[in-house]
Amino acid sequence: MVFFRRLMAVAALACSVSAGAQMLSRPGWAGSGMSSDPWWQHAVIYEIYPRSFQDSNGDGIGDLKGITQRLDYLQSLGVDAIWLSPIYPSPQVDFGYDISDYTAIDPQYGTIEDFDNLVQEASRRNIRVLMDLVLNHTSDKHAWFTESASSKSNAKRDWYIWRDGKGTGADGKPAPPNNWQSLFGHSAWQYDAKSGQFYYHYFYPQQPDLNWRNPQVKQAMFDVARFWLNRGVAGFRLDAIDTLFEDQSLADAKVLDGTNEFGDPNTDKSLQTRLPEIHGVLHDLRSVINAAPGQRLLVGEVYTKDAADLAQWYGLHNDELQLPMDTGVGFTNKLDAAAFRQKLEAAQTQLHGNTPLLVFDNHDNPRSWDRYGDGKHNKEIARVLATILLASRSSSLMYYGQELGMSTSTPERKEDVKDPIGVLGWPKEKGRDGERTPMQWDGGAQSGFTRAAKPWLPIPMSSMTVNVEAEQKDNQSLWKWYQDLIALRRSRRAMREGQQILLNHDADNALVWVRKHQGVTATSPAVVVACNLSDKPVVLHLRDEIKKLGLRGQFLRSLMRSDYGMGPMNLDEVKLEPFGVYVGEIHY
Ligand code: NOJ
Repeated sequence: MVFFRRLMAVAALACSVSAGAQMLSRPGWAGSGMSSDPWWQHAVIYEIYPRSFQDSNGDGIGDLKGITQRLDYLQSLGVDAIWLSPIYPSPQVDFGYDISDYTAIDPQYGTIEDFDNLVQEASRRNIRVLMDLVLNHTSDKHAWFTESASSKSNAKRDWYIWRDGKGTGADGKPAPPNNWQSLFGHSAWQYDAKSGQFYYHYFYPQQPDLNWRNPQVKQAMFDVARFWLNRGVAGFRLDAIDTLFEDQSLADAKVLDGTNEFGDPNTDKSLQTRLPEIHGVLHDLRSVINAAPGQRLLVGEVYTKDAADLAQWYGLHNDELQLPMDTGVGFTNKLDAAAFRQKLEAAQTQLHGNTPLLVFDNHDNPRSWDRYGDGKHNKEIARVLATILLASRSSSLMYYGQELGMSTSTPERKEDVKDPIGVLGWPKEKGRDGERTPMQWDGGAQSGFTRAAKPWLPIPMSSMTVNVEAEQKDNQSLWKWYQDLIALRRSRRAMREGQQILLNHDADNALVWVRKHQGVTATSPAVVVACNLSDKPVVLHLRDEIKKLGLRGQFLRSLMRSDYGMGPMNLDEVKLEPFGVYVGEIHY
């Protein structure tokens, strides 16, 4: 599945708070503990794809009550926040990313009371809830669009992007205004016979783009944000935020070489994405969330070409997104020590001191287990990735099941595909079902996800061995590795807030860094993290490099070792087995 790769190519109601709503404007989140920094600067954010996490009512589809039932699990893993992909009413063409009502809950996921209960129960466990906010487009079944489509003179006509076509095409059909394409295949323009005009959609035709140049659209969406902030959400993950505006000239896109997986000619998307006006919207939205009590957060879905490109999403005065996703590191897609070193270093040095949000997995891309795994050492490699994700100076975004080593289960037959891009693009594009299969809770027939005979996506065979129940019992499981790393972030100042200094610049096979915080002492030491990215043993000599950092060090006191060996480690001889990991405090 090539969602990410396609996005990389791109990189070049009015409503008021409903009466009687339970007001949770400031749930009882505790402070971030060890320091006064905002919680999100060192957070572990766990993405839940609600359809696939836990079904509580036996219909084969996950729901809000199911998530609430699993909060103790999330607390035991140690996450600070959960991000729910969309749970609003939706025709589910794009599984929730086509929203027909922004201030309600889709009945298949539960009720608004279930939502309030989830937020409250999460807050009791000091877990914050982030909503997915889809600003670029609505569903074509949203009342705004139905009104807009009702006539050319409707007051909401201008809430969407309606344009005249270019007469009749060679095929005898109405020709669209230009050659712009949808990311999800074919023309980005959909003809409406009733008015004789086209509307624009960057994603599916059932997802018409809003016109963000209309101030009423902005007002309506900001009211949506306030609605959820008032209900106690900790913030938002902003969907496809770089697609909010389109170039007003409507000039044709440059046609590039080759064709995409849908058989369309490749086109340059720079007239359709990343227009500068987006920054004004983000700046104003940041003011909306800042006006709410507590430390609310904006996470952004952006795919950028490098750290310099990523830096602009924080805003000129750090007044836009607090955490735009840093996809550069996690989607290196190759165990290449030099590439990781360069990208991790850039994230530390080129973001003007801002916090990178590292991410390896989400609901749009094959799981990292398969993207990085060599088929032989997948578990060891997954431990390396977890270490990069959680032992770096960053916030960390993880995806349900990543902590187990869930793999991608791509459908084998077109008739089984649920994701429409997989139907349209088959067999080159098989869609995103593979990374959205049900959470693997236990080794039973339905893996503890549902009691329904047929879950919405099949339970992967791997659930017989790769599941929460089995891994929680196993001290050497990937799950335990994640839990221990998260616990270290909480308990060690160096691991939580220390600078990340990349070492060993010449080593081809090893990725090594030091976490060094202000005021290193004998009782609060700096930490070394070393990962072997090769299938050969590696021995590292770290004494000189550590000395150069002005750190006093005689030996390493082991905190985590993938060889599960005991005892201290000699600074001159840090031994790593193939794909091994070592984390140790620098003592003198
Ligand atoms: C990005 C989301 O992550 C993806 O799942 C969705 O299909 C598109 N945006 C459109 O909303």
